[in-house]
Amino acid sequence: MSGQNPYAELMRLTNGYQVSQAIYVAATLGIADLLGDEPRDSDDIAAKAGVHPGSLYRLLRALAAAGVFHEDADRRFSLTAIGQCLRSDADRTLGPWAEFVGRPYQWSAWGDLLHGVQTGETPFRHVHGADPWEYRSRHPEEGAIFDRAMTGMSRRMTQATVAAYDFSRFRCVIDVGGGHGALLAAVLAAHPSVRGVLFDQPGVVAGAAAVLREAGVADRCEVVGGNFFERVPEGGDAYLLKTVLHDWDDAEARAILQACRRFIGPEGKLLVLERLVAPPNEDLEAKFFDLFMMTVTGGRERAREEFATLLADAGFRLDAVTRTGTPICIIEAAPI
Ligand SMILES: C[S@@+](CC[C@H](N)C(=O)[O-])C[C@H]1O[C@@H](n2cnc3c(N)ncnc32)[C@H](O)[C@@H]1O
Repeated sequence: MSGQNPYAELMRLTNGYQVSQAIYVAATLGIADLLGDEPRDSDDIAAKAGVHPGSLYRLLRALAAAGVFHEDADRRFSLTAIGQCLRSDADRTLGPWAEFVGRPYQWSAWGDLLHGVQTGETPFRHVHGADPWEYRSRHPEEGAIFDRAMTGMSRRMTQATVAAYDFSRFRCVIDVGGGHGALLAAVLAAHPSVRGVLFDQPGVVAGAAAVLREAGVADRCEVVGGNFFERVPEGGDAYLLKTVLHDWDDAEARAILQACRRFIGPEGKLLVLERLVAPPNEDLEAKFFDLFMMTVTGGRERAREEFATLLADAGFRLDAVTRTGTPICIIEAAPI
């Protein structure tokens, strides 16, 4: 934080929700893809997007002032380096994430944060009477947006994860709560001798075929639907849990780990991929993801020692933490 003008800085932070919603609208309309590589007139973009020209111009100029787009003298807009990250073909696209976080059902949970802090209840459940997984199973269109957000976010982490850790020593990698399989597909693509099992809720894995096919790994990857509180597939020598445990409180996270413990072999490795909460005053991303978990899922981000305790309670020993150069760390554990 600059600290140069505290009043202006607080104003910027306080109004951050407006920027977030404006980016959500631009992402939902696919503005970054419509802009492409050339500066374009905002009325042309409005015609292509099928929206009100005057209102779109005001949205784009506000986001240009926020640094997402660049506006030139005659109402033509282009993408800045920040805006490029909204493109669907960007290496590290944030477009699907922006589309997800601004959805009205997410937004209304954040609108209830005060209640959450006053009572300790999870705002999402208070507002919707269900957890996000139940809610999305009843609203498949929201489930599809969420799964795309996970795949988009994973793109940012997968290459770094595959580069940071030697998966070639494994015969069979089981990705528990693996979504549409973006991480597992990258692991299998990098290591032709490794087989995979993608495990997630039946309605989620039903959408995984395209990701596995595009990576050319469908013939080496079994897809299994189920409930990780009850069981996980047997026979892996590595079990991945990427950004799964942070969705759950300690009792639920322990139950997921205990299910893994029941099915992992004595020589197996458990790889938990998560953000680690940093010391005081550092790492806005992890601490706001923690607030996200408090508001939406009822889970939490954790520090290394908290993972060590959770793992030990479920019969695992934390052996090592590998940094990936992204906010996600690889926490390696073995059954005890
Ligand atoms: C935050 S997402 C992470 C997805 C993926 N690992 C990634 O990093 O992109 C959590 C995943 O847990 C899955 N999940 C939630 N409840 C589950 C359950 N009871 N059994 C199996 N999977 C579940 C969700 O469907 C979702 O794909």
